[in-house]
Amino acid sequence: MPVDGDVPWPCAPHTEAKHNIYRRYLERWFPILLAYENSYPSVTYAEGFAGPGIYSGGEPGSPVIAIRALTAKVPPTKGVARFLFVDDDERCTSMLKSTLREAFPDRPRSDHAMPVNIVPGTCATNLEPELDKMKAWGQPIFANLDSWGNAPVPYRLLQRLATNVSSEVIVTLQPQHFVRFVTKMGPAADEVFGGDPTWRSVTELAAEAKSRHILTCYRQALHTAGFEYLLDFELVPRNGQPLYLVFGTGHPLGVKKMKDSLWEVDRTQGVGFRDPRDEQAETLFDITAPELGPLTRLLVQKLRDNGPTRIEDLRKFALFETVYREEHVIRALQPLTDQGVITSDRRGSLRRSSIVSLAPTPGR
Ligand SMILES: C[S@@+](CC[C@H](N)C(=O)[O-])C[C@H]1O[C@@H](n2cnc3c(N)ncnc32)[C@H](O)[C@@H]1O
Repeated sequence: MPVDGDVPWPCAPHTEAKHNIYRRYLERWFPILLAYENSYPSVTYAEGFAGPGIYSGGEPGSPVIAIRALTAKVPPTKGVARFLFVDDDERCTSMLKSTLREAFPDRPRSDHAMPVNIVPGTCATNLEPELDKMKAWGQPIFANLDSWGNAPVPYRLLQRLATNVSSEVIVTLQPQHFVRFVTKMGPAADEVFGGDPTWRSVTELAAEAKSRHILTCYRQALHTAGFEYLLDFELVPRNGQPLYLVFGTGHPLGVKKMKDSLWEVDRTQGVGFRDPRDEQAETLFDITAPELGPLTRLLVQKLRDNGPTRIEDLRKFALFETVYREEHVIRALQPLTDQGVITSDRRGSLRRSSIVSLAPTPGR
């Protein structure tokens, strides 16, 4: 779907927050895979929806951010970093070529150490064959699939990425797109969810549950495709449409690093994030003192469902199934123990080995 309007276009507040997350994550991803001990000889950063590399206010787009992350963190002699940028609007691909020339007037690496391939065409038709041509498979690939939110990505490609060594995806999703057009969308939309039509039951849900349902179905699709660990969160600008990012990886370290990147993003710029599973949809804006309300609610629900649970298991739950970090768990639970809402198997401060449970409610 080519750009509906001028190229380039203005950079929305949630786009800046998204870029911030990409940058912080890629500044970790490139060196971990290319520059440290036991690193790989090569990696590939691929975008299926690359854009023109610049916004109308001069802000850099994701392709520039990705190349800068590599050059900032990995010495030019370390390994081979391939870049593949696909976009179906030729205005974007031709502007991306000139943007990259201007952003990197002195090539930061040789053509061999940093091949850059800019391809006009759709993600569905071009991404996989171009990865074949670049001989990217068999080495780590980071696929950034940043569509307008409709995620027209072949499921087969997600499956192939999930089974490729140390490969990860980050997908932008606008659940509203699916909520609004569900009755008009044919089988191609089921393909987004791996062929599973469960997402269509969104029509039967209350308004406030619709987005969460779409996101849960997409998360399930990525999991079924083979990504063992997932992290999804909602970027919430104070004004404007929220945006969901879903990250899939085969490695727990990937989730940890993505979460670190998320929590470092400067939310004073007016974009917060939200855990899509929080019933009260509380937005986390304040970076200095994380608002732990949503985590507390999720932990209480977990204890209600599972009974007595070791804190270490709750830390894993927080890491893999919420937007929170492991170290937030004890901070979220301690006030509840002080208030007598939960009990611990030992006196004093909570520890990772403590077993906690919900205190019996008086009268029951
Ligand atoms: C959200 S923008 C990408 C922004 C860019 N990733 C960034 O952060 O700077 C989405 C881009 O996807 C392109 N696009 C839309 N549908 C596409 C498709 N099916 N295949 C490839 N590109 C597509 C549009 O032309 C647009 O440039």
